[in-house]
Amino acid sequence: MCGIFGYVGTRDAAPLLIGGLKALEYRGYDSAGLYVVGAGCIKAVGQVKNLEAKVGDTMKGHVGLAHTRWATHGVPSEINSHPHSDCTGKVWLAHNGIIENYSELKDELIAKGHQFKSATDTEVAAHLIEENLKTMPVFADALLAMLKMVRGTYGFVIASDQDPEKLYIARKGSPIVLGIGEGENFVASDPSAIVPYTKKVIYLNDGEWAEITSSSYKLFDLDGHEIAREPQVIAWDVEQTQKGGYDHYMLKEIMEGDNVIKNTLAGRLDEEALSIKLPELADVEDRLKDIKRIIITSCGTALYAGWVGEYLIEEYAKVPVECEYASEFRYRSPIVEPGTMIMTITQSGETADTLAALREAKRQGAMIVSIVNTVGSTIARESDAVIYNQIGPEIGVASTKAFMSQVTLLTAFAIKLAELKGVVTAEANKDIVREILALPEKIKTILEAREDIKAVAQKYASYDDFLFMGRKYTFPIAFEGALKLKEISYVHAEGYGAGEMKHGPIAMIDEKFPTVALCLNDSVYEKMISNVQEIKARSGRVLALATVGDETMKKMADEVIYVPAIMEMLEPVLCVVPLQLFAYYIGTGRGYDVDKPRNLAKSVTVE
Ligand code: F6R
Repeated sequence: MCGIFGYVGTRDAAPLLIGGLKALEYRGYDSAGLYVVGAGCIKAVGQVKNLEAKVGDTMKGHVGLAHTRWATHGVPSEINSHPHSDCTGKVWLAHNGIIENYSELKDELIAKGHQFKSATDTEVAAHLIEENLKTMPVFADALLAMLKMVRGTYGFVIASDQDPEKLYIARKGSPIVLGIGEGENFVASDPSAIVPYTKKVIYLNDGEWAEITSSSYKLFDLDGHEIAREPQVIAWDVEQTQKGGYDHYMLKEIMEGDNVIKNTLAGRLDEEALSIKLPELADVEDRLKDIKRIIITSCGTALYAGWVGEYLIEEYAKVPVECEYASEFRYRSPIVEPGTMIMTITQSGETADTLAALREAKRQGAMIVSIVNTVGSTIARESDAVIYNQIGPEIGVASTKAFMSQVTLLTAFAIKLAELKGVVTAEANKDIVREILALPEKIKTILEAREDIKAVAQKYASYDDFLFMGRKYTFPIAFEGALKLKEISYVHAEGYGAGEMKHGPIAMIDEKFPTVALCLNDSVYEKMISNVQEIKARSGRVLALATVGDETMKKMADEVIYVPAIMEMLEPVLCVVPLQLFAYYIGTGRGYDVDKPRNLAKSVTVE
């Protein structure tokens, strides 16, 4: 999704702006542009390196703003890419989000004589400021008036020739972060772009805006009242935002797997007492004891983690759980009865549908507990309690390490809730905790065998259709394995519950349509064996994921990827790892840049 970067200081702004945009490339975009006060605006379609080549060292100036655009209104083109300006070329701005009433505002502005260049919603904001300046001599007043006129969502960075030593930023629905440096300040839509320069940041809340110079910043609300807020320090380092020696962020993030589990559990697992602690739930523990129902709502990979959560919580904490697409929940008049807890799961903390679902549930009075990776994100701030993943930024567009961490936290949550509800004793949980402690080593053995998985992937690289099937705890993993494959290799892949095979999908099976079957030694193993036999009887090729030592599967399937034996409830986090690697090697084998899959964005901040 779109990215924003801005700089005000004493250094040459242009190279810093290009660097900032490069750090945001992972978010997905189709064009880029920058404006440097006193030096002008340059835009380019395609990658940031195209923009860099056009900029060269021609632009001198120490205040500027830049943007990577992911088209929503108007095709990807130089004209439509940001920054946009008013008629006079004195107001320049970049915007993330959607201005919903742009069409009526544009008509009014055109009637007043304004000339528009682009097809974007964003451009109206620049012309509105220009119009307001006719009656408001102070730039900040004209800007504030504009913010009150637009409906929809925005993260703005704005420069003006009237205040050439300042940048302005504003936020409603689209994240904007201010980075506080020494004699220089930065702004970005995502803190990972700021971390190379400073770790001191201020997150803007919805309805806030700021005026920034090289040595100062002032924060305001929409009534113009100044807000006092101390910067917070980001715990990530630059190293965590780089590839760490791997070819792709995606591989680096999968290979972090064992540490992801350890980091996720840091401070949450008492190794001596063999118990789970979730201190972040302390304030809501009393309410948790009384909850009667849980609705988990999220999108994409995070939703599939939620499906695992549904199984875990119902089995262990005996609380009824439904898990549903946030994009449906927000529109289908859901009934959130008293005693219902809503859980959202989100890596970015900014997914538009998940946020809207959260707000709808909150409007109906529900308590919100969220699993979030991005500290300070909107969903984190709007939840009653947040369990952070503690795994650093996820850069690869395809979510991998976040899923492992989300499922781990859901396991911890189910255990904790079971204890709070008194449906299981701490003593009984010790076996599970022991198994959780062994998880990093088990994941490590899979990661160490990645060359074997690569060899298997090579055998399957030329197929154009795949079925992934699982049952019970591997059911959500079948969907996640299929999602991973389709998003980075553009191969058709479907996830299915194995029990559903006979109800339709088996008609598709032939020698050109292989199946990835998740057949671990668990309570549904026999059922899975029957499904594999049915596929083999129809000339289908089978790649099985099986438990180490399973000789039956070796005979039955065409290829087998083995995973260590594990307690059934912990299967999801283990099984997903080889499927992530399988997708990675098929995608890279087909020559794709798996870190930037086509048409996808890392943070989906529009619906
Ligand atoms: C798939 C993927 C997406 C995200 C989804 C939710 O690999 O990354 O399906 O899981 O867009 O994103 P978050 O977790 O940021 O809410």
